[in-house]
Formats: sequence, C-alpha cells, structure tokens
Amino acid sequence: MRKNLIAGNWKMNANHLEAIQMVQKLSYRLDLSDYERVDIVVCPPFTALRSVQTVIEADHLAIRLGAQNVEWHDKGAFTGEIAPSMLAKLGVAFVVVGHSERRQLFGETDDIVNKKTRAIIEAGMTPIVCVGETESERDDGHAEDVVESQLAGSLAGISSDVLRSIVVAYEPIWAIGTGRTASADDAGSMCTFVRRQIGSLSPDAAEDVRVLYGGSVNPGNIAGLMAKRDIDGGLVGGASLDPDTFASVIRYWI
Ligand code: PGA
Repeated sequence: MRKNLIAGNWKMNANHLEAIQMVQKLSYRLDLSDYERVDIVVCPPFTALRSVQTVIEADHLAIRLGAQNVEWHDKGAFTGEIAPSMLAKLGVAFVVVGHSERRQLFGETDDIVNKKTRAIIEAGMTPIVCVGETESERDDGHAEDVVESQLAGSLAGISSDVLRSIVVAYEPIWAIGTGRTASADDAGSMCTFVRRQIGSLSPDAAEDVRVLYGGSVNPGNIAGLMAKRDIDGGLVGGASLDPDTFASVIRYWI
C-alpha cells in the first residue's frame, strides 16, 4: 500500500520569519487523521529550513521537511552550494530534484539530476524527482517520449531496492504556475505511464514508488486527481503558500 504524499514547494518565497508562521498556521489546520492519511511535506527555501525544523521539533509536528534543491558533491570548493549531508543534518527528509525551473533556468540536465538523486539517497533522504514535457512537446505527440527519456536518464543505475522508495513527480511544464491543470484523465494516464517506466527499470519497484502530479494543483482539482489509481499525491506550488488553501488541498476528501 502506498501512502499518499502532498508536498508544498514554496519556491523562492518566504523569509524565515514568514516560513515559521506558515508552518505554524498549517499545523493548526490539520489533525491526526490528516497525518495518518497523507505524508505532509513543506519545502521552504534553504534560509528557512533551520527555523521550520525548529518549529516542527518544538511542537512535535508530523509535518516533514523538504528542500528544493541540493548539490551532489559532498563538500569542497563549490561556492554557494549546499551539500546533501548538510540537509540531512537539518532533518530534511525529502529533496525536490530536477524541477522544471531548475532544468530550464539553471541548466540541469538528466545527468546532473541523476547525480543529485544518487547523492540524496546516499545521504539517507528521499528524492522527489521531477519530470514533465513542454506544451509544444505535448502538442507534437512527444510527451511520453520526453518523460521516458527524463526518467531513464535521471534514474540510471539506481538499484531496485532503492528505486521503490523514491518519489517521482510528473509536472507538465505548461501547467506549472499557469492555472492550467492537466485534466485528471491526462494526468492519471501519464502517471500510469511513469509507473510502467519504473517497472521497466525494476519490476519490483513499480507498485511501491509514489508518483505525484504537479502543476496548478488547487483545492478544486485535487480530489479528481487523487481519484486516479496511479496518482499518489501532489507537488503543490502556488496553492501551498497560503496555509488555509494548502490545508484544503491536503484534506481533499472532505
Ligand atoms: P504550481 O507549481 O502548483 O504553482 O503550478 C507546482 C510546482 O512547480 O511544483
């Protein structure tokens, strides 16, 4: 049985003081049954990780901490970068890797995503590996090819035991931050495709790996998405910035 997972990707929003308020407000809106049904993750910017970790620990919250990016080297002369072990030490459990904004704006290739994914696993954290096609790739009928090659490149050489515990987020680029969600049917069928691809890398891992949908998820569309067999949760950007809205996404069945 796969446990659902809903992760808030705050992107480059919230200083550490705002982040403290956001996680506290979110926690007031959740109860035990929410944590039982869903793994709830927040991914603040690096500068707020320590503050959010402190709130989570002090208030004994079951909210899990995530980071939005990481460098794959362990230490050394990489000015401005953050190592996996540094995140692990802060109690970070999940790391988003290969987000389309990193791929498009910061030149991350599948090879880099693969190195980062391995480094995250090595440091004992769970990668949330993002894949997804552009609008023109979809219009040209290449969406599956693109996702297939991103998965193959990003997950190359990862053993089946490990593969089963990772998270993959399917995020069509045209749906991110645009208010245009993929239809539940399209999102569901691509997530089925993702699971099948994982199965071709490792038959044992396919049923265990959690596949999220991301791209303009909101309280109005989450239930339809979650009804799909192969969608195990969401990676939520804009709608995770307001604690009320994010809590409504998390409590999608109500
Ligand atoms: P969005 O972002 O929900 O604002 O579309 C999703 C994401 O980029 O992870």
